[in-house]
Amino acid sequence: MSALIRGIGTLLSLEGAWKKSGRFVQTEDLGLISKAALLMDQGRLLWVGPEKKLKSALANLPRQYQKVTREWDVQGKTVLPGWIDGHTHLVYGGQRWDEFELRCQGVSYQEIARQGGGILSTVKATRAATKQSLKEISQKRVDEFLRQGVTTLEIKSGYALDLKGEIKQLEVARSLEGPQIITTFLGAHAKPPEFETHESYLQFLSEKVLPQIQKKKLADRVDIFIEKNFFEGEMAKNYLRRAQDLGFSLVVHADQLSLSGGTQIAVELGALSADHVIQLGPVEIQRLAQSETVAMLLPLADLYMKCEYPPARELIDHGACVALATDYNPGSCPSMDLSLVGLLARLYMKMSLPEVIAAWTVGAAKALALRDRGSLLAGFRADLQVVDLDWRGLFYQTGTSPVTQAFVGGKSMPL
Ligand code: NIG
Ligand code: FE
Repeated sequence: MSALIRGIGTLLSLEGAWKKSGRFVQTEDLGLISKAALLMDQGRLLWVGPEKKLKSALANLPRQYQKVTREWDVQGKTVLPGWIDGHTHLVYGGQRWDEFELRCQGVSYQEIARQGGGILSTVKATRAATKQSLKEISQKRVDEFLRQGVTTLEIKSGYALDLKGEIKQLEVARSLEGPQIITTFLGAHAKPPEFETHESYLQFLSEKVLPQIQKKKLADRVDIFIEKNFFEGEMAKNYLRRAQDLGFSLVVHADQLSLSGGTQIAVELGALSADHVIQLGPVEIQRLAQSETVAMLLPLADLYMKCEYPPARELIDHGACVALATDYNPGSCPSMDLSLVGLLARLYMKMSLPEVIAAWTVGAAKALALRDRGSLLAGFRADLQVVDLDWRGLFYQTGTSPVTQAFVGGKSMPL
């Protein structure tokens, strides 16, 4: 038994981009197949190719797959891998629109944080929120991502900064439905007021929190905000090493506001991704580009923060694997608009459209260490989107989603 999608105007398999590990992506790496079809079963792709070869492909499949039991004719639409958003802070309580108004009047993000606003105001609201209310509001946000074709969605904790609340955030994240959810423990997001120093808070996280997160299997990944006067240098490194010893993969919020060593630490410790990476010098660009650490770029946060955009062109030209993500959160990026992220990457970071498409698929899959998605190849997860738009029209118009259908693990999802 198998399920068939036919009538595909153009299918983008991303085969070449996948084989190149997301580096030096060109148009031909998009794996364009016109008049295509695909077969899937049990959430996996069985075959992808030109529709005229469907009959022979079916005949060549093992007997149990030869009977097509479900069929969709997408009538000339485009099919491509589902987007993967590898960096969000989606589970949070409260809002920060008042502080945004202040920022628009010229008060800086750092000044608001010093006055007890910023991340700490979201911490207060998230601690106070019930699990049920967090779940309801978070599910609505996840639905919004799915509507845009997101089939894998990363969610970080980091808005409770205590044992009970961080567990609550991760449990809520794990309970959300639609795209496949990947959770990351970001206890080291900011220092909560109960602790005198950043060092003593990291010690608490290492001794009391990380082992619990591991025991309860609430996340496989640990993230940290490395920044001058926040978590930095040896204390950050020691914390990440401790997480690594416990079996967690690493991620770093690196060099966002200032060049603070985050990228160097990420590369040295073999982190999956270094995120933001705005304030890089030539040495950091070279090291990151030549490593297996993905450069996770978040230009929509840069727009909201009115800061520079990351040196995407230099990173890509030096051979980096790049991912794009929203960084959706109530402070630095209260927007879930993937198309705007891609538009900014094209307009201000000189990324080509094939590079943007690969960054949202192959690059993001690599950043999440997911080897079975980001590309539509036989054996991969059937995570895909149907869009009513020529692929060349992607990340061109914003504000509306061209996605008409999304499949997550082979299942057609209500949008
Ligand atoms: O990725 N340090 C950064 N953390 C978030 C912002 C969180 C917030 O303002 O609530 C970021 O930009
Ligand atoms: Fe972030």
